Amino acid sequence: MPWRPIGDIKMQSQELENKIAALESAAVKAIEEADNLESLENLRLLYLGQKGELTAILRALKDLDKTEKPRVGQLANVVKQKIEAAHEEKRARIYDQGLSSRLKQEAIDVTLPGSRLNCGHAHPLTQLIEEINTIFYSMGFSVAEGPEVETDYYNFDALNTPASHPARDEQDTFYTNIGPSVLLRSQTSNVQIRVMEKQKPPLRIISPGRVYRNEEINARKYPLFHQVEGLLIDRDVTFGQLKGTLEAFIQALFKKPVKVRFRPDFFPFTEPSAELDSQCPFCSGSGCRTCGNRGWLELLGCGMVDPNVLKGVGIDPEEFSGFAFGMGLERLAMLKYDINDIRHFYTNDLRFLEQF
Ligand code: DAH
Repeated sequence: MPWRPIGDIKMQSQELENKIAALESAAVKAIEEADNLESLENLRLLYLGQKGELTAILRALKDLDKTEKPRVGQLANVVKQKIEAAHEEKRARIYDQGLSSRLKQEAIDVTLPGSRLNCGHAHPLTQLIEEINTIFYSMGFSVAEGPEVETDYYNFDALNTPASHPARDEQDTFYTNIGPSVLLRSQTSNVQIRVMEKQKPPLRIISPGRVYRNEEINARKYPLFHQVEGLLIDRDVTFGQLKGTLEAFIQALFKKPVKVRFRPDFFPFTEPSAELDSQCPFCSGSGCRTCGNRGWLELLGCGMVDPNVLKGVGIDPEEFSGFAFGMGLERLAMLKYDINDIRHFYTNDLRFLEQF
């Protein structure tokens, strides 16, 4: 071993101690200033990594004198632990800050109202048909269907409507080129005949569906519209039962007590016949725009089934009697929802449809 003066050894250890102290304060300061995990990791490598400054100092310890080595070694280890602790503490802090700001950013406010999926729904007329069906189900009626392309027998003759009746005029009814007697039904009353031909009384049916009339299109009229037909056949049916049934229906539909009145009217297939008016549900009869200040609205036609109609389908009018009614659905819907133009039902404008 080459000779070394004592002072030189002292110098070496002193120098190392200074270096260690300087390293400690530089490292602690740099670590404190680091503001992200990446630069912090670079500092860890710079000071504590295998090629790091402190590691170099620890390696240099082996050249120190035996008497100096433990003391300087211990000092270096204490500093190493301090730097490691500072590093770990800072790492945890940066991580927490990142986490809390991420949590804030990604937080979900569970009290926010949900966002609805945009999804279609039944047309307002279909909804109304379902509502009407439900009301009549509760009164023991079932739903029957009949053809829209119909013969004049079911649409007129069997309904006691003579060939001279104005409704049979081509200006009112669409005839087809399938044959001279084939037409688009102008009323759902055809279903009355079709049901009575097939089923024996007692009968309680309603029949919603499309009907067609040769009309000019305007706010009130459209060549295609919907009706709901009703028919009840039993023993000893009275006009009072007809009134009670329709009153119950109107109140269930408008969801509040509504006054109704029956006015004498004429239909070929009922005798006596009546028109049912309801007190205007919008102004309770005091007069408003919807009822044209009359206080009453025409809702439907009805009456006791004419004995001729019963005979025509082989039902004995001495044994059975019945009532029938028919209403325009668009008209009911316009009243119920205060809609001022029938064309809204057929133009498929989403701004209209989405409100139902
Ligand atoms: N079918 C008639 C129309 O379209 C409405 C009607 C009136 C139907 C009286 C009926 C009824 O069943 O008894 O104007």
